[in-house]
Amino acid sequence: MRESELNPFLQGNFAPWRLEGTADDLQVSGEIPLELNGTFYRNGPNPAYEPIGRYHWFDGDGMIHAITLGDGRASYRNRWVRSAGMLEERKAGKALYKGLLEMSVTEAPVFKNTGNTNIVSHAGKLLALMEAALPTQLRHCTLETLGEFDFEGKLTTAMTAHPKIDPESGELLFFASSPVPPYLVYHVANRDGELVRSEPIDLEWPSMIHDFAITKDYVVFILCPLVFSFEALATTGSAFVWEPQRGTRLGVMPRNGGNGDVRWFETDACYIFHPMNAYSEGRHVVLDVARFPRLLLMARDQAPGSGQDFIDDAPKLHRFRLDLRDGNVKSEPQDDRRCEFPRIDERLLGRKHRFGYVASGGSETARRDVPELTAVTKYDLETGKPTVREFGAGNGVGEPLFVPRYGQAEEDDGYVLVLAYDRAKNSSDFYILDARNIAAQPIAVVHIPNRVPYGFHGNWVTAS
Ligand SMILES: [Fe+2]
Repeated sequence: MRESELNPFLQGNFAPWRLEGTADDLQVSGEIPLELNGTFYRNGPNPAYEPIGRYHWFDGDGMIHAITLGDGRASYRNRWVRSAGMLEERKAGKALYKGLLEMSVTEAPVFKNTGNTNIVSHAGKLLALMEAALPTQLRHCTLETLGEFDFEGKLTTAMTAHPKIDPESGELLFFASSPVPPYLVYHVANRDGELVRSEPIDLEWPSMIHDFAITKDYVVFILCPLVFSFEALATTGSAFVWEPQRGTRLGVMPRNGGNGDVRWFETDACYIFHPMNAYSEGRHVVLDVARFPRLLLMARDQAPGSGQDFIDDAPKLHRFRLDLRDGNVKSEPQDDRRCEFPRIDERLLGRKHRFGYVASGGSETARRDVPELTAVTKYDLETGKPTVREFGAGNGVGEPLFVPRYGQAEEDDGYVLVLAYDRAKNSSDFYILDARNIAAQPIAVVHIPNRVPYGFHGNWVTAS
């Protein structure tokens, strides 16, 4: 059988959407607020061809879905990230590159820079990101691929898909993680987009470090016991091994410090793809995350896809409180709901946030083999109170983005934007929710003319 008939990450709304298109004046239920003037960009894996061998959700070619709002109207455009590898495959009319589950020690790894994970705008550049390679620059609005971007030749490593833009300085803080030394390099680009700093950071073991956190004063690196191992690749075929006895380490480095200043805090084994945010509070660094109790990233013999059980080993909202005076870590579960894709009001990135927005859920009947989350939850971290909006079984949602109503609006005074699949219609809707009451009637629902496959991350870019 073909992989697409076996693998749940190639089926339902995980299946790729292979048309590119543009649609103006989308049908809208309700009214789009006039203050919403900009574009919601969303990236995700969308394989252009039937995969060679086994498929991992992280493998697919990047596709950007862009919803532009202005004057109360909405338009849609989707385009592939046209990587050099994908263009070769287009010529051949078939897949040429193997994925993560087909890595082998006997063949040199040849990766396609799919640019499939996130899309950010900094210093006038729109960058599609995937963590094993350079950013891919796209043109705003048209989504035309301009090619790989290496900061004028200064970036000699890959770039995480989760850079942070400091809301005050406008700096772009990021890192590169690699299975071969240097395992971690910290980078800073100034507000004009010039790479001004690259600092190798020593790690105890090579891992997959997907994201990190910043505060006004510190960066926080997250080293989980998902260990890269050539030996394991040779013997089991899986390049990453879960070794919980190592525990998880959180490395706190002053933003103006270097490798020698990193202080590592130890906590129980867990995996963290995504922090919600971090901030400094007195002698503490507070770090909120979506915490997996363990991660089977490539247990490829267990099940098609990844082998992870997304119910038993579901991520949940968790707070770490790191005491910079005595080195202790308080590890505090925040809720029992499954959650991923945590976001905050980006104006508070690295500063104390009260509210967070996550994809969450869902029902007892939710699937175990894929991370399909069918609710949006807003957390009030001061009162501990969650507010939940359910979309119904099979109607998975993406990462919720908060957009303030206007520049100086208070935290939570704005909109939560989220894409949701409608299984009955087999198409997707773009919800504009009142952040202060996400469970109420939506302010507007924009009906996308097609299905937007489940994907990863995106950002809102205000029209200039
Ligand atoms: Fe991510």
